Amino acid sequence: MDKNVGIEKILITQEQIAARIKEIASQLDKDYAGKKPVCICILKGSFLFFADLVREMKIPLFVDFISVTTDGGLVPGKIKFLKDLQSNIKGKHVLLIEDILDSGSTLYALKKQLEEREPASVKIVTLLDKKARRDAPVTSDYTLFNVDDVFTVGYGLDYAGEYRNLPYIGCLGFTL
Ligand code: IMP
Ligand code: MG
Repeated sequence: MDKNVGIEKILITQEQIAARIKEIASQLDKDYAGKKPVCICILKGSFLFFADLVREMKIPLFVDFISVTTDGGLVPGKIKFLKDLQSNIKGKHVLLIEDILDSGSTLYALKKQLEEREPASVKIVTLLDKKARRDAPVTSDYTLFNVDDVFTVGYGLDYAGEYRNLPYIGCLGFTL
């Protein structure tokens, strides 16, 4: 079946994503000059965004990968590591690269746990920010796009595991 099936509308095109990534990458290059940040890809949703963003950055940096689950619960502070970092972030400048900031409970808990490892700083870079849905006290430091309260898929984002390989961000033809 065609991978576009079920997409009602394209919200953000491939060209818009690429242009915004260039802008944020050059901002990060300025803000992190001389800091060699550890850029952390939060799997699976941010895999494409992460790869494109770090490729546009010109400064020296490190990459690492993490996978967490909220166990279906919405209790802030409760996450389980499915895959932890391989690097020690103590004293390092950390950039958490996320696909979408929704209720914020995942990033709130993740940021809190990583801060216990005593990094020099932790900041959040998110592809999408759905501010209307925020519960947890977490804000993004670098946002590519703000989106309304619609369910988005594509460019890493999934619905039941599908649609991650769309090159654009769209919404499905139904409301959850
Ligand atoms: P939060 O903890 O509620 O902020 O949830 C964040 C996670 O929920 C994201 O990393 C996504 O995996 C998923 N998510 C939230 N909204 C969407 C959406 O519109 N499309 C796809 N996944 C979403
Ligand atoms: Mg997901």
